Amino acid sequence: MDRLYIFDTTLRDGEQVPGCQLNTVEKIQVAKQLELLGVDVIEAGFPVSSPGDFNSVIEISKAVTWPTICALTRAVEKDIDVAAEALKFAKHKRIHTGIGTSDSHIKYKFNSNREEIIERAVRAVKYAKRYVEDVEFYAEDAGRTENEYLARVIEAVIKAGATVVNIPDTTGYCMPAEYGAKIKYLCDHVAGIENAIISTHCHNDLGMATANTMSGVLNGARQAEVTINGIGERAGNTSLEEVAMILRCHKGVGIETNINTTKIYPTSRMVSSLMNMPVQPNKAIVGKNAFAHSSGIHQDGVLKNVQTYEIMNPQDVGIDDNSIVLTARSGRAALKSRLHVLGIDLEQEKLDSVYQEFLKLADKKKDINDDDILVLAGADRSQNHRIKLDYLQVTSGVGVQSVASLGLNIAGEKFEACASGNGPVDAAIKALKKIVNRQMTLKEFTIQAISKGSDDMGKVHMQVEYDGHMYYGFGANTDIIAASVEAYIDCINKFKI
Ligand code: KIV
Ligand code: ZN
Repeated sequence: MDRLYIFDTTLRDGEQVPGCQLNTVEKIQVAKQLELLGVDVIEAGFPVSSPGDFNSVIEISKAVTWPTICALTRAVEKDIDVAAEALKFAKHKRIHTGIGTSDSHIKYKFNSNREEIIERAVRAVKYAKRYVEDVEFYAEDAGRTENEYLARVIEAVIKAGATVVNIPDTTGYCMPAEYGAKIKYLCDHVAGIENAIISTHCHNDLGMATANTMSGVLNGARQAEVTINGIGERAGNTSLEEVAMILRCHKGVGIETNINTTKIYPTSRMVSSLMNMPVQPNKAIVGKNAFAHSSGIHQDGVLKNVQTYEIMNPQDVGIDDNSIVLTARSGRAALKSRLHVLGIDLEQEKLDSVYQEFLKLADKKKDINDDDILVLAGADRSQNHRIKLDYLQVTSGVGVQSVASLGLNIAGEKFEACASGNGPVDAAIKALKKIVNRQMTLKEFTIQAISKGSDDMGKVHMQVEYDGHMYYGFGANTDIIAASVEAYIDCINKFKI
């Protein structure tokens, strides 16, 4: 079997999604889970971009042992200095530097020319080599870079010492055959290509990220850059879980990864919960419906023999149907053990507070499932917020106007307001705006039920524009109106004032 290295960029490219930013503690939690999952490389951040990113790379480097920790840079000396500093505690370290190589990047981003770009690329790789042995070079927008020129760039950076060469389809433009042919062209035309690993990095703008990645792998790439749940800029990146399971289901390809597939589902749920980013129900491998058979013909077939309609076993990806129900009679130990299976280990104090919330929810809802637990574990992230919802009362119905009264606690001071509106959410938000009197506009509002049942928790995502900036908020509650107000308050708590 040949080996495909898995380079996870959930914490860098994935975290670029607006509203999905994690703090350092949450990033460490994800990094440790990625280590358990068996990824080879963790791209931990872009250290020069912010003190938060710099600090996260430092802390992840300390927390993780086996995977290589990678830091992103532009082809700029200052970036590389800062990345090297951030990586100082990593047991295995890599600097990922690069520059745009397509004609449009060269002309519009850099106002430069092809020869100068090669010089800058080579200079950056040589500079990074002064700090680390393992240097990866990315040719941004390689998907739209002419193959002949791309081969010249790649040859030059390998000669300069690049150990991995990343060929990003930055805009998600390529067709699978075209992307595969690009990788093959490099294998056939770059002198010294045997001295480096070729990496895929595909975006999903046309829904072809995984197909392009696989085409690249079948044509010689031996590293795939991926994210959990396929999250990332715009339509996202290639999904880790898809690449891992494709190679597992198609053993005939003769390529394997180090991924422990039974950790896929818990990792997916942890990332979704921490980032407040729902997984679409029909998402391959990790979507709620990925293993649900609803039509009569399919159910009949599965009951006779699961192989009729299932190409993989839900247990292979870590879906454990037998142990997902907790009730009001479950103790702390049961909650702790379930959280552990979901990749979350809480300190005693935090476990106690999550357990109290669990009991409150269990009073309202008969069965508590994994998604509920992940929301509860994430909910106390907002406990230190300045503005909190004290109470909310709404009357609404058919043929009557909705009226809401609510109380807020703002930095310890109590405020109350009442308003009527076009529906209960409108009334509640109008009351809220009477207290927090700012020029803010609701731009997006998504409600999602977590699992099933009329007692289900509802998750609300909101996007609010204030002072020229966009803010993202999240709320979860069995009362959907309360969840909406919580999401709005979450946005306001993030305002830069
Ligand atoms: O999509 C892209 O080109 C990237 C590079 C910075 C690697 O994310
Ligand atoms: Zn990218």
